[in-house]
Amino acid sequence: MMGQLPSGACGVRILGTGSAVPDRRLTNDDFARMMDTSDEWITQRTGIRERRVLDLRTEGCSTLAQRALERAIEGAGIKAEELDFVIVATVTMEMTCPSVACRIAGAVGAKNAAAFDLGAACSGFVYALNTAEAMIRAGRARTIAVLGAEAMSSILDYTDRSVSILFGDAAGCAIIQADPDPTKGCIYQHMGADGSGWHALYIPRRESDVPAEDADNPIRLGSLRMNGKEVFRFAVTKFKEVMEDAFKKTSLTPDDVSQVICHQSNIRIIDAAREKLGIDSSKIYVNIDRYGNSSAGSVPLCLDELWRAGKITKGKPFMMVAFGGGLTWASSVWNT
Ligand code: UT7
Repeated sequence: MMGQLPSGACGVRILGTGSAVPDRRLTNDDFARMMDTSDEWITQRTGIRERRVLDLRTEGCSTLAQRALERAIEGAGIKAEELDFVIVATVTMEMTCPSVACRIAGAVGAKNAAAFDLGAACSGFVYALNTAEAMIRAGRARTIAVLGAEAMSSILDYTDRSVSILFGDAAGCAIIQADPDPTKGCIYQHMGADGSGWHALYIPRRESDVPAEDADNPIRLGSLRMNGKEVFRFAVTKFKEVMEDAFKKTSLTPDDVSQVICHQSNIRIIDAAREKLGIDSSKIYVNIDRYGNSSAGSVPLCLDELWRAGKITKGKPFMMVAFGGGLTWASSVWNT
């Protein structure tokens, strides 16, 4: 990560974005054929109609991450060698060593980049973006690829109807770079964690990872375990709090922002926060109907769709908010 480092105060701009989802669709009707559920239940309770799933025999988190990175490099119009860092937010890496970041940096020829994975579950991309932006502002790096990438299908128990119907596989990437205009970039960020709530959402690897309260529940080691009601309550409160805080600290109103990108967890969670804050639905991007919840992949997948549609307008700030396992939460408000 050597390259030419910026000197003095600098801003940060988004150069380009990319995303990738598997071709294979898993619809609500497919689930209804596999287990006791229905399209009506899933649509009404979650807003999800279908999600994408990898063929795990030959594909994994790195497959999607690499595709998203390649597309972002192309969109940004840079050479892979220009990247100082590749950071991948994920909890579904094929191997804990090497990181997904190392593998994809190697695959695309980002030979000057340092690379690492970051784990903050569904908040991961916003955590990674905030971290990367701060590194550029501090003058430690000039160009960084930030990704959120998940192979959620690799950690799902497809006999657990209350969890498996929610998630899909996806990856997204934003390439950010130092800009001479210090007003550009992240104008407000907040990240938080409450580890005392970790057992609401976790992936046990050993019997001893399972907390006493879950001892009587059927648990498959290596699969995501979730207390849906507890996460729902946390999410509704936290989303509102995090957005309210970001608006207050930046003195922005919902009218001032071009878009609010929320982690796509459940349409009821997004709507509850939107209604409490009086934000018009046109300002809140939703693609959960097509992709479900792709954890760290969800915010950058939305960002890429909005970026390519020209909806992240220059001169108007936009906001990203996420919450997830840990428990964690994060916001990031950007001037473009
Ligand atoms: O990125 C963060 C990840 N997690 C989340 O954001 C999840 C947050 N939680 C949720 O989105 C919701 O809690 C769920 C969608 C998971 C569940 O919705 P709910 O309205 O909280 O349903 P519930 O858990 O209260 O279950 C109501 C009923 C239960 O049946 P009984 O006990 O009333 O007979 C469940 O067994 O619905 C049943 N149920 C289902 N029925 C049909 C649970 N899952 C299903 C299903 N199909 N897939």
